This record gives sequence, structure tokens and C-alpha cells, in this order.
Amino acid sequence: MTYGEYLRVPDLLGLQQLQSGSEHDELLFITIHQVYELWFQQVLHELDRLVERLAADDVARARHTVQRVRTIIKTMVAQLDVLETMTPLEFLSFRDFLGSSSGFESLQFRELEFLLGQKQRVHLDRFADTPGFDRLVGRWESPTVWDAVLGLVDRSGRALPDEVLRRDVTAPTASHPAVQDALVSVLREDAGSAGLLEGLTDVDEGLQEWRYRHVMMVLRTIGTKPGTGGSSGVGYLQGTLFRPVFPDLWEIRGRL
Ligand code: HEM
Repeated sequence: MTYGEYLRVPDLLGLQQLQSGSEHDELLFITIHQVYELWFQQVLHELDRLVERLAADDVARARHTVQRVRTIIKTMVAQLDVLETMTPLEFLSFRDFLGSSSGFESLQFRELEFLLGQKQRVHLDRFADTPGFDRLVGRWESPTVWDAVLGLVDRSGRALPDEVLRRDVTAPTASHPAVQDALVSVLREDAGSAGLLEGLTDVDEGLQEWRYRHVMMVLRTIGTKPGTGGSSGVGYLQGTLFRPVFPDLWEIRGRL
């Protein structure tokens, strides 16, 4: 087995096909997006492991996995710097070749949102009859990372109400006063689980940071033009900012 065989390097390097044929900057655009899809795959892989570890009350290993996810997200945010070296004119040199394709259509990004608890029906329906739809439906119908955290908190002796533990898992995560009381108690009394919650706060902040950096990159690259995916562009993206995936973790900060 050689390096190239193990990593399938020839296959990998055959996947960057310029639609423009020859526009220099299109290669960077494709490379960055493909790298993001690989990171999305890795984060989903790690978060599935995290859910297993939480279900097994294995706080130490769950913390380790959260740490890895947090570090990947930091890398994902930093990578936007590279794409920001692309000027509006460089982007325009191949933008028309994108047609109506857009990050809007990233199935893995929606999987990630659903697994983390940001469930919006419109983003599920958009994928009906497309490859991978069944996988997305699976994510839609499954409990989220936050549900797994709540299970752990409940089993730690801080009983949570039934309406929290048996909630409709297709609904977006909503904050709850009983959960917040339990989280404050965890943060005050259980250093191990407190570290886990801080790591999850880092993950949440990192994702919000990615959204902010993405919208600023979009603003400097296409201004207020509509997106290729058919949204209003920056206006739409601004509406996705400052929406935490784990709202309870933020709402309790002032109580500590
Ligand atoms: C010059 C670079 C980029 C521009 C101009 C751009 C532009 C946009 C625009 C305008 C939207 C709104 C949807 C639409 O109407 O198309 C969008 C959404 C999105 N983009 Fe980008 N984007 C860029 C780079 C990236 C990169 C590198 C990624 C990494 C995967 C990405 C991922 C996404 C995702 C996931 C959404 C959906 C966000 C949501 O619905 O909350 N974009 N992008």
C-alpha cells in the first residue's frame, strides 16, 4: 500500500473540475468548499460519537470529543481567511458558471444543524427527492446532541420534567427554566460535567463565529446582490446570526 493508494490521491485530485474551464480563481473556490464538506463529514462523525458517549454517561471521553469538535470548528473559521483573499472581480470571473448552486444546498450543513437542534422544516423540504434525503430525514427524526446532554443531566440526580425528556425531537431546541436550574447546579457542583458544558459553549460560539465570518465575506465579495441559491443574500444570512444552538447555556451565564 502506498501513500497515494491509501489516500486515493489521484481520485481526490480529479475532483476539482473547473466549470469555467480556465478561470484561475475557481480552483480555490472549489478546493475550499470541498475541504468544508470533508470537515462537515468529520464533525458529524465526531458528534455521533459524542451522543454515544453521553448516553453511556462517559463524561471524560465526551469532553475529549467536544474538544476535538471545537478545534475543528476553529480551523473551519480560520479557513475563511484564505477565501477572503478573493476579490469581488476575481469571484465574478467565474460566478456565472455556478448557476443556481449554493452553500444553501449543502446537505451535510443541514445534517449538522439538525443534529445540533436547529430544525427548520423549510430546510428539510428543500431536499425532497434529492440524493441523501433519507439521511437528512433520519437526522430530522432523531434526538439531538442537546437531548443527549439533557439525558446525562437527568441521570446525574437532577431530575428533569417529562416535557423536556420526552419532547418532540423534530422541534427546534427551546430554552427551559427547569433545565437552566439543573445546569447552574452542574456548573457549581460537578467540575467534570462543567468542563463538558463549557466545551459545548465553545462549539456553539464557534458556529456563530463561522456564520458571522461567512456573512462578512459574502458582504465584501458580492455586496447586497442576491445569492446564487435564490435568497436575498446578505439580508438572509444576517437573519441566521446570534441564534445559539444551545440557548440554555447562554441564558444561565448571568446567574453564575
Ligand atoms: C465567495 C464565497 C461565498 C459567497 C459569495 C457565498 C454566498 C452565500 C450566499 C449569498 C448565501 C445565501 C444563500 C443563497 O442565496 O445562495 C450562502 C449560504 C451558505 N453558504 Fe456561502 N458563500 C461563499 C462561500 C461559502 C463557503 C466557503 C462555504 C462553506 C461550506 C459556504 C457555505 C454556505 C452555507 C452552509 C450556506 C447556508 C447558510 C444558511 O442557510 O444558514 N459558503 N452563501
